[in-house]
Amino acid sequence: MDGLKKTVNNYTQEEVPFFHEPVLWKESVSFFITDKSGVYVDATLGGGGHSKLFLNELNSDAVLIGIDRDKQATEHAKKRFKGFSGKFIAVNGRFSEISEILSSYDIEEINGLFLDLGISSHQLDTAERGFSYLSDSPLDLRMDRSDGITAEDIVNSYSEHELADIFYNYGEERLSRRIAKRIVERRTVSRIKTSKELAEIIRSLTPYKGRVKVMSRIWQALRFEVNNELNDLRKGLEDVYTLLKPGARVVVISYESLMDRMVKRYFKGVDPDFRRGSQYMGEKKYDFQILTKKVVRPDESEIKKNPRAKSALLRAAEKV
Ligand SMILES: C[S@@+](CC[C@H](N)C(=O)[O-])C[C@H]1O[C@@H](n2cnc3c(N)ncnc32)[C@H](O)[C@@H]1O
Repeated sequence: MDGLKKTVNNYTQEEVPFFHEPVLWKESVSFFITDKSGVYVDATLGGGGHSKLFLNELNSDAVLIGIDRDKQATEHAKKRFKGFSGKFIAVNGRFSEISEILSSYDIEEINGLFLDLGISSHQLDTAERGFSYLSDSPLDLRMDRSDGITAEDIVNSYSEHELADIFYNYGEERLSRRIAKRIVERRTVSRIKTSKELAEIIRSLTPYKGRVKVMSRIWQALRFEVNNELNDLRKGLEDVYTLLKPGARVVVISYESLMDRMVKRYFKGVDPDFRRGSQYMGEKKYDFQILTKKVVRPDESEIKKNPRAKSALLRAAEKV
């Protein structure tokens, strides 16, 4: 694809290695673990990169619950962490279901919550899941492939107005209306089925310079809509608050500004949802001491070793 740097490996489902280089790992471990015999949740298990580091740090009487909405991730972790079975539990589910998940294990309080938001290297590199605009694959984009609508459904059934809204609200894309209009025109000819077909539409509307950013924003918007990601994050953050012990830590790595904004608001104690306007704060509901006065980013050497870490933004706070 012209102008687009190849950073994705086009593996098929069978070939793709289940490996995810944990981002900001030293900072994650040092902010997260406060009691080596505590109860912790990694609600974005992925390839288990961070969980492995936490398990290595924790005593044998500690508990780590690893949650992922992608069944492949939890199945992989069950095998990978067999040796830690006494202190590790893998659960297939969504972060927003955290109350139900913990209560099913009779857990009333936790010492820490870790979130490494977004998609794993395994998901990105599995071409047929459609997470990358660089591969020619079906427009799927579901994290949990057993359920829900796909990006193909959205692109072919949402109205022009609805498409423009998600591109603008979830992708902060200024060309949202033009792209939505062109999609609706194009789908009268035939159903848009692949990432290549969608990328062609975007390419026809964007100059060479800046095209990569537009593609990323449109893919992000579709991914958020398919997986209901912002609503899931908001509900999870709200529900987990009562489960955090005083002194419990919440450590979150985001890769784009919308989720980071939600986390920032939450740590300030207000409704994480910024969609009623950035000025809207509402009543103070949560009490945190912020541990990262400035957002933590990976340094040059980490980015060189792992280019996917480039946009990572880590924030941490402690429940008062
Ligand atoms: C960036 S990866 C995590 C990588 C992991 N920290 C590691 O080092 O291997 C994000 C993972 O979180 C999962 N995920 C994202 N949002 C989720 C949610 N709301 N509930 C449960 N899992 C989620 C994705 O399916 C993906 O596997």
